[in-house]
Amino acid sequence: MHRQLILVQKVYTRVGLVLQTPPQKPFLKPISLFSKSLIPSSFRIFTTNLRSPLMDPQETSLRQALAGKQAAIDAQANAVRELKASKAAEKAAIDAAVEALKGLKMEKSSIEEELQSIVKSNGGDSKETFRQNLINTLERKLFYVPSFKIYGGVAGLYDYGPPGCAVKQNVLTYWRQHFVMQENMLEVDCPCVTPEVVLKASGHVEKFTDLMVKDEKTGACYRADHLLKDFCKEKLEKDLSLSAEKAAEFKQVLALLDDFSSEELGAKIKEYGITAPDTKNPLSDPYPFNLMFQTSIGPSGLSSGFMRPETAQGIFVNFKDLYYYNGNKLPFAAAQIGQAFRNEISPRQGLLRVREFTLAEIEHFVDPQDKSHRKFREVADLEFFMFPRELQVSGESAKKMVIGDAGTVNNETLGYFIGRVYLFLTSLGIDKERLRFRQHLANEMAHYAADCWDAEIECSYGWIECVGIADRSAYDLRAHTDKSGVSLVAHEKYAEPKEVEKVVITPVKKELGLAFKGNQKMVVEALEAMDEKEAMDMKANLESKGEVEFNVCTLGKSVTLNDKMVTIKKEKKKEHQRVFTPSVIEPSFGIGRIIYCLYEHSFYTRPSKAGDEQQNVFRFPPLVAPIKCTVFPLVQNQQYEEVAEQIAKSLAGAGISHKIDTTGTSIGKRYARTDELGVPFAITVDSTSSVTIRERDNKQQIRVNVDEVASVIKEVTDGQSTWADVQWRYPAHSSISADE
Ligand code: ATP
Ligand code: GLY
Repeated sequence: MHRQLILVQKVYTRVGLVLQTPPQKPFLKPISLFSKSLIPSSFRIFTTNLRSPLMDPQETSLRQALAGKQAAIDAQANAVRELKASKAAEKAAIDAAVEALKGLKMEKSSIEEELQSIVKSNGGDSKETFRQNLINTLERKLFYVPSFKIYGGVAGLYDYGPPGCAVKQNVLTYWRQHFVMQENMLEVDCPCVTPEVVLKASGHVEKFTDLMVKDEKTGACYRADHLLKDFCKEKLEKDLSLSAEKAAEFKQVLALLDDFSSEELGAKIKEYGITAPDTKNPLSDPYPFNLMFQTSIGPSGLSSGFMRPETAQGIFVNFKDLYYYNGNKLPFAAAQIGQAFRNEISPRQGLLRVREFTLAEIEHFVDPQDKSHRKFREVADLEFFMFPRELQVSGESAKKMVIGDAGTVNNETLGYFIGRVYLFLTSLGIDKERLRFRQHLANEMAHYAADCWDAEIECSYGWIECVGIADRSAYDLRAHTDKSGVSLVAHEKYAEPKEVEKVVITPVKKELGLAFKGNQKMVVEALEAMDEKEAMDMKANLESKGEVEFNVCTLGKSVTLNDKMVTIKKEKKKEHQRVFTPSVIEPSFGIGRIIYCLYEHSFYTRPSKAGDEQQNVFRFPPLVAPIKCTVFPLVQNQQYEEVAEQIAKSLAGAGISHKIDTTGTSIGKRYARTDELGVPFAITVDSTSSVTIRERDNKQQIRVNVDEVASVIKEVTDGQSTWADVQWRYPAHSSISADE
């Protein structure tokens, strides 16, 4: 559920700022917006289409066949009962009816078997087994482990061990290279501890919430949408007697879950009779729970603060300086990598939902009147799965689209980042067939956002949001301008001065001071912050009635103003520049989620040569592999070990992470050990002049001179050459190992 930071609209009335983004020219095709108001939510949820592609057609027909068979069994069972009760019935007739009933039951159980196997392949036991094996490997190899394990651990907190740290570092280095360097972004590094005022301005203190339900007897807490999701999934996976209509309804609920209001969620939980998972006790109605960890800054306890729930606010509050640093030019982007903290109601699914995680965020500032992107052409031809909201609502699946033709994306800059995120994720090793960009549903999106797409990656837990890409319009900069009094704006200098008509509001401070004493400043500020329409309405009222009621939000009440307290008039002015609040396009990357999905997409098992065991392998591309290369002396002897040391030195000189394994274990076992860490290349020293290099996935080997080996490894790990290139240049070698 995307948390919506919806500030009460009246705050904006006070500061008199216009919230709406000017309409953007859609790039290429016109925007087709689905408006929630056009389709009542009850209709959306309950109208289920049996031919809906949400429902596997084979699954639908099997469920229908099963229901038909059950009806036939019931009828036949009745017939048998009646025959048995009737004195006139002959034994042969009764036997025939019983046989027919048996036959029907057998047909039913074969349909059940078939249905079971389809349901399983759509998300059942095989996924569980795969995941369990993966997680065992990850924890055993110290990719990550539960934090504070010796004290029993804490839900939602994990430590990264050596290979996990290396993978994370590689992902972040590539992120910097792909985004920060290539786009000349301005990187910042701000504190995690954030004073309350900043997060009040951004709306987090009031609205950074998830909907929670409580066990009415024990007080145990659960995330409301997760309970509904689990219920529907379990019904679909385990309840074979489910009618096709009901199954389609549950699938529809799953597709629209993020769009549900608190009331809709509560109503569904009641309708389905969902109870507390551990105790089966009744649940409370859903209510919002703020996810921020609160703290106090300094010893007095008077200054309240929070651990930041996102890194973005650090960039917004520095906008003025960054804009200046950038030569007062737009567009530009700032970026930040850092820890974020969310007191998740029920952390689960390992690294996917944790209470402290690394975020990498970009805030790309643009002129709201021009959201084109000069490099859009570079991504325009990319084709990948997109899931616009119309497809979600109509129950269809994501479709492959060329981003340059995907008319539903609001503007070019947003489209450009979607394309760049696709390239980033697939270069890391995310499978492009299990990656889609899903547009937010109307209700899911914060009211200020112009458009929003999540990069979702499919793993054994389902489709997981890993990157959120949102056009947040001018919301954040306006909110901080309002609260701090520092204007976070940009300027466009005109070539020629322009004559414009402007509303000039002049509060008469003497009169206001006499009337409002200490509150004068707040009344003046509120008057000056009125937009043109509000000011002209006030002028008309003052002229006709002599007095107006004026709501001053900072005072929390209305005051009565008369025509001596403020003058409002329109004046013609020459303007040399346009002053405006930039819009911001924000790609926000959950690094832990990306890494976990990468682990799933890279992990596979293959039988050992003897066929007596399954060996685990991570097929990480060299870019993310925690160690790029291992060096093994074939046997324990001093000469080979010296050559291995010499190679290790040249690898270190070339900046290649590597590991020497001088244990006497068989070479095949040593290969298997590094395959399990995802090391792409292994050098085996089996002579003093030349050595072998083995590639992890195809297990093929080449022979290379000792003095060339480091440069060959550098070529293939940097991506200058492929393994096929070097295989073509160097002689092949056949393994001597019985395990290979
Ligand atoms: P969700 O709906 O899954 O709770 P969200 O919509 O609240 O996520 P955002 O606020 O958009 O997420 O956060 C940006 C990114 O941070 C997400 O795309 C995700 O990758 C990551 N993220 C958010 N919450 C967590 C968490 N608890 N653990 C790990 N990563 C997270
Ligand atoms: N290169 C050593 C082996 O695998 O046989």
